[in-house]
Amino acid sequence: MSWPEAFAVGYSDWTAEIADDVPFYVGLAAEADGLLVELAVGNGRVAIPVARETGRRVIGIDSSPAMLEQARVRATEAGVELDLHLGDMRDLELEEPAALIYCPARSLLHLPSWVDRRRTFERVAATLRPGGRFAWNAFAFDHQLAASLDGQRQVDGPMPPHTPRYAVGTNRIDLVLDDGSTSSLWWATKNEWLGLIDTAGLEIEALYGGFDGVQFDDNSSEYVFVTRRP
Ligand SMILES: C[S@@+](CC[C@H](N)C(=O)[O-])C[C@H]1O[C@@H](n2cnc3c(N)ncnc32)[C@H](O)[C@@H]1O
Repeated sequence: MSWPEAFAVGYSDWTAEIADDVPFYVGLAAEADGLLVELAVGNGRVAIPVARETGRRVIGIDSSPAMLEQARVRATEAGVELDLHLGDMRDLELEEPAALIYCPARSLLHLPSWVDRRRTFERVAATLRPGGRFAWNAFAFDHQLAASLDGQRQVDGPMPPHTPRYAVGTNRIDLVLDDGSTSSLWWATKNEWLGLIDTAGLEIEALYGGFDGVQFDDNSSEYVFVTRRP
């Protein structure tokens, strides 16, 4: 598992500044007429405003007990109800088809291989209702930035002190905390995303280069995909 419990410590603090994705996912949820599901829900950073703004049921799935516990506490404090489940997004199963499944914060990059992602996309497609949407965001990998940060301990910025490691051969970035806990992100190219969408039988509705709705282009650093089950 690529999210050791050490990464749950202080997560709410170091993600407090990330806010531009929330209105985007809340907007998609408001347009969805049915069940809402967040994959890798974490501490509920996005799911809580989604539930609050839509007044609708939100299922959140995550493989980290520590993150889910944070989500439970934060949802109670916010006065909203989340339907939280410990589980792996690769094994997604729902009792009723979803109108919107979404995965913020680049969490799909925690899946190590194309096979893991293909399985996730196939489960998503199988659990969406016709016309239902699947949306996610992930960084467009910057090799120059990764090379310049490789092995350089990072002390500034929102994350706790950590050292990035750049594994070119396995398209992986490791974020290593001082205690050795490591979270890995396996980057994907645009063509890999397009292949996953195609293989799962989904259709692209939009590919943005950010949460402000600008179209993705050669200079974009973030993929923001909105896809639909036909
Ligand atoms: C960066 S956090 C994102 C949390 C939340 N979605 C947000 O936007 O703040 C990544 C989350 O992915 C979860 N995760 C990683 N691999 C997973 C998997 N295979 N299935 C379910 N959750 C997973 C981790 O436990 C962690 O909570």
